[in-house]
Amino acid sequence: MGKAFGAVAGVGAVGSLVAMKKSWDPLPSVKAAGFTTLDMTIYPEGELITEKWRGKPIFVLKKTAEMIASQTESQKARSVTVGGSEFMIAIGLCTHLGCIPSYNPAEKSFLCACHGGMFNWAGEVTKVPPPRAFDIPPFKIEGNNMILGEVGPEYKAMKDSGITL
Ligand code: FES
Repeated sequence: MGKAFGAVAGVGAVGSLVAMKKSWDPLPSVKAAGFTTLDMTIYPEGELITEKWRGKPIFVLKKTAEMIASQTESQKARSVTVGGSEFMIAIGLCTHLGCIPSYNPAEKSFLCACHGGMFNWAGEVTKVPPPRAFDIPPFKIEGNNMILGEVGPEYKAMKDSGITL
């Protein structure tokens, strides 16, 4: 009787795990919605626009001529070129504990109000506690569009050199 109960309980446990796994998997509609296409021709220079991808804020900043002329090698390495324009693209969450930093256009910097962390316009940390620059979301470039959620060669090269995280 004890063994039979154990076997039934075991089958029940496997059944529950399968059911739980199913509930973890994204619905087909969610998977299809996992990509966001941005038309990169619409962004004004020097103005931070916040888009959304998979529920996360995505910072898009089209660089000004002044930003391009004065950028450092590391800022250039984080740059994404689409249709001849250069952009800073990043997940708009502080890499400390995930608050959303605000952009100050006059200072060209981000301040995270949670613990005072700061980032420059390129997303690099200028004041701790954030441990690293803003993360860069996976992207693919197709003409003047950027597809967030797909991995293109430009993103792969950045990832391989450790820039995206
Ligand atoms: S969450 Fe941004 S500084 Fe702590």
